[in-house]
Amino acid sequence: MMNTGTDILKIFHSAFPGKADLYFAPGRINLLGEHIDYNSGYVMPAAITQGFWFAIGEAKENEFSVYSATLDEYIHGNFSSLKKCAGWKNYILGVIDQFIQKGFSLKGFHIVFGGNLPVGSGLSSSAALECGLATALNDFNAFNIPKKELALMCQHAEHTFPEMQCGIMDQYASMFGEKDTILFLDCLSIESEKIKFPSATHSIVLINTNVKHSLADGAYNTRRAQCEEGLLLLQKKFPQTNNFREATLSQLSMLKNDMHPDIYRRCKYVIEEIRRTKTGADYLKSGNISAFGECMYASHTGLRDLYNVSCPELDFLVEESSKHKAVTGARLMGGGFGGCTINLIEKMHASAIAENMVLKYFETFNKEASVYIVQPGDGAHRIHL
Ligand code: GLA
Repeated sequence: MMNTGTDILKIFHSAFPGKADLYFAPGRINLLGEHIDYNSGYVMPAAITQGFWFAIGEAKENEFSVYSATLDEYIHGNFSSLKKCAGWKNYILGVIDQFIQKGFSLKGFHIVFGGNLPVGSGLSSSAALECGLATALNDFNAFNIPKKELALMCQHAEHTFPEMQCGIMDQYASMFGEKDTILFLDCLSIESEKIKFPSATHSIVLINTNVKHSLADGAYNTRRAQCEEGLLLLQKKFPQTNNFREATLSQLSMLKNDMHPDIYRRCKYVIEEIRRTKTGADYLKSGNISAFGECMYASHTGLRDLYNVSCPELDFLVEESSKHKAVTGARLMGGGFGGCTINLIEKMHASAIAENMVLKYFETFNKEASVYIVQPGDGAHRIHL
């Protein structure tokens, strides 16, 4: 169920006594740099204007309750006994736990949340949930924790409760996104540069395969472990190589026979994608959109053939997109195994091409694909009522 901020406030007031404050946290897209945030790379995410709204008000000391208007589910607990559970509740518990672990003493709270962000589609509804909750709690308790630290707390929350060993990209984008802006994030320093998105000429079109992706299913953590194994092998032979950013393809090729072929492929992808993203950012900055688009297609090929995180539905949509001259670039977006492709399309042709691809997708897979034309928007913030 889709909700607006006004709906969320209404639901809050019908369920809980007292006044409420309202917050918003967005989902994210990523133009380039996939699976390299946890490999010392660069990524190019943006927050989008779709996300979740959170209404927060005071509850009894030591108690909290959170109601998901989207799922019509509820979690109630107290701060002294947080136990892992399943699904969205784990993200809530993980964030609360981060505040407690850092020695912050939380006031009791009620929250109602919900919004217009599709869940499980690679738009990082989990980061929107974590970042919205963390931003609301930070303000509500007047902790004044800086945004970067909040983003890191949200990332750790995801590591400890849902046990998904994610990088920092999603939480950073959900916190730091800005209207019309693509972030060029250096995942080593966790500092970003802003690049203006050419919204006068191009649209960002997401096509959701509606194949459910579940990052928690272990494939993501396996990729991460394989990269760690590969880096250790590289460092054994080349001790001066501190991370994948400093590794070269020629170093890697010298180790080819000493590595499992899977590990070799993962490392090759990572080294290539790090360079591609750096070059791609320069193209986007200088307005060379078609060269940027080629980087997106090359990224997809790497994700499909070397990192092995694609699926037939995603490959089909990327292949179809390449038949249209007005599509500048396309690739799978996010963790992979389903979810969305991201397409950069000349603005005046965007809707027609998307419609055509949905039709072709249906003819091929007998499944509906969904289209979202999105705009880069602001990161997590309070909505002044
Ligand atoms: C998920 C993770 C991110 C990132 C992407 C892949 O969204 O949360 O940290 O690794 O997958 O680029």
